[in-house]
Amino acid sequence: MSLPVAVFASGSGSNLQAILDYHASLAAPRWRVELVVSDQGDAKALERARRAGIRSRFLPVSGRSSRDVAGETLSLLRSADIGFIALAGYLRLIPARVVGAFRERMVNIHPALLPAFGGKGMYGMRVHEAVLAAGARVTGPTVHFVDEEYDRGPIIAQWPVPVRTGDSPHTLAARVLRVEHLLYPRVVDQFGRALARECRPTPFSPPGAAFLACSQTTGDVERAITAGFAQD
Ligand code: GRF
Repeated sequence: MSLPVAVFASGSGSNLQAILDYHASLAAPRWRVELVVSDQGDAKALERARRAGIRSRFLPVSGRSSRDVAGETLSLLRSADIGFIALAGYLRLIPARVVGAFRERMVNIHPALLPAFGGKGMYGMRVHEAVLAAGARVTGPTVHFVDEEYDRGPIIAQWPVPVRTGDSPHTLAARVLRVEHLLYPRVVDQFGRALARECRPTPFSPPGAAFLACSQTTGDVERAITAGFAQD
């Protein structure tokens, strides 16, 4: 049994790619990316999905009612039997009806340490510009459950990344993104395993984070975190 996962992305989809690459490296994956959804017809993420032979769907949001979008999204998710959703650079608010149907089964990655530097309009370079303008010395990605507001749901994992003297928003974004690519696939894997009932999720605390994890795989996340610091 493998859990069908959906990834929602509006843009480049490098996190989607990291999830696909990590999945390919697993000996016995308990989940698979079954569906990729984008609100942008020309998103590179859709192209990545097609190249990987994964079902992809352009689901327009702009100018439509939340009711319509929710209905189409839910029927699409049901038709693919999706059990877990990872938002990876998806810039639209998820309709409340979809949030309700996937509560604690839908996560998002944000490129700063929430609850700082998040919320409506805080995406892309704006996040890293705000981090630099505030003079913060530490930043890093946050993975959190999705609720009815942007970037507000309960935090699952965070990974501290240093802000260096002389950083531009672009150098900082690149440093954070490298860490996102290590962290996000592992979080998806933890949920895939837990939801496939391979293990019971247990609270776990790597540096500065609350993490729902399978106890036998926490070592993997810790090793990845250590490797991430060593690379920096
Ligand atoms: C990432 O920085 C992610 O944290 C944010 O949007 C960006 C998506 O990048 N939510 P990509 O499309 O995965 O390359």
